[in-house]
Amino acid sequence: MLELKNVFVTYDPNTIFMSNALVDISLVIKKNESVGIVGRIGSGKSTLIQLFNGLIKPDNGIVLLDNDDINSKQVDIRKVRKKVGIVFQYPEEQFFAETIFAEVAFGPKNMGMRETELKNAVFSALKDMGFSSEKIAQRSPFSLSGGEKRRVAIASIIAMNPDILVLDEPMAGMDFNGKEKLIKYIKNEIKNGRTLVFVTHNMEELLEIADRVIALDDGKKVFDGRVRDFFSDEKLIEKIGIDIPSVVRMRNRLKKHYSDIPFCRTPIEIASYLKKRNRL
Ligand SMILES: Nc1ncnc2c1ncn2[C@@H]1O[C@H](COP(=O)(O)OP(=O)(O)O)[C@@H](O)[C@H]1O
Ligand SMILES: [Mg+2]
Repeated sequence: MLELKNVFVTYDPNTIFMSNALVDISLVIKKNESVGIVGRIGSGKSTLIQLFNGLIKPDNGIVLLDNDDINSKQVDIRKVRKKVGIVFQYPEEQFFAETIFAEVAFGPKNMGMRETELKNAVFSALKDMGFSSEKIAQRSPFSLSGGEKRRVAIASIIAMNPDILVLDEPMAGMDFNGKEKLIKYIKNEIKNGRTLVFVTHNMEELLEIADRVIALDDGKKVFDGRVRDFFSDEKLIEKIGIDIPSVVRMRNRLKKHYSDIPFCRTPIEIASYLKKRNRL
């Protein structure tokens, strides 16, 4: 379990550039949850997730992982980073290795993995990310397309088998094919009990993957609850600059005529509701 208690982060304090990136944030991420973090650009999303494994330290408040304060001297930060794996925004910009294998192996090697275990971890992570041929591992990561690069970057974190996988806008700039593969993987991981936190601007993704939403606005937490409750609060959604997905819009409109329509995440769910209803 990951817990933030009354966390504040200020960048460049006492200068004209001072920015209160996070203001009094408290939240809990429980095991097996899938949490989407939303909010406009500059609302504090990336800052928030970097608190999760100690890359940023709060100016005030505490971050607890399984009840230990991760910023206390007694806690081994390497263990924290093994448990909480973060894939940054545009991670492919930080590639450095000569081969895809070396790129993906870097993290687990640092964690002490060697030989067969390391090889298995790398190939299994690549396979999870849709690279079924082992031959590709000897290629340069720079030879890949944008979406493929992203999937290699994600594989490099998955190879460490983190309890909590944190993704900062994983699908941004990805092609359709890459997105499909990633969504399939993520859904499967959730089913298998991995805890997932992801930042997104894409509400369709949120509907498809998340069971909880945390919304930030100007460094403050303005919503924390179920996806369906988030999308019922149209005023709040508008305030934080988010487009209501067409599926939700359609469902909310239909609700005026069909009061028993349930919350629908996809057009197919709407269609099957109408089909069932008309049969009655
Ligand atoms: N390294 C940094 N130095 C100074 N200010 C920063 C830094 N990173 C982010 N900020 C500022 O903190 C606020 C939150 O940024 P960020 O967490 O990146 O938001 P988001 O990910 O939601 O776009 C913004 O006002 C941003 O300009
Ligand atoms: Mg960001």
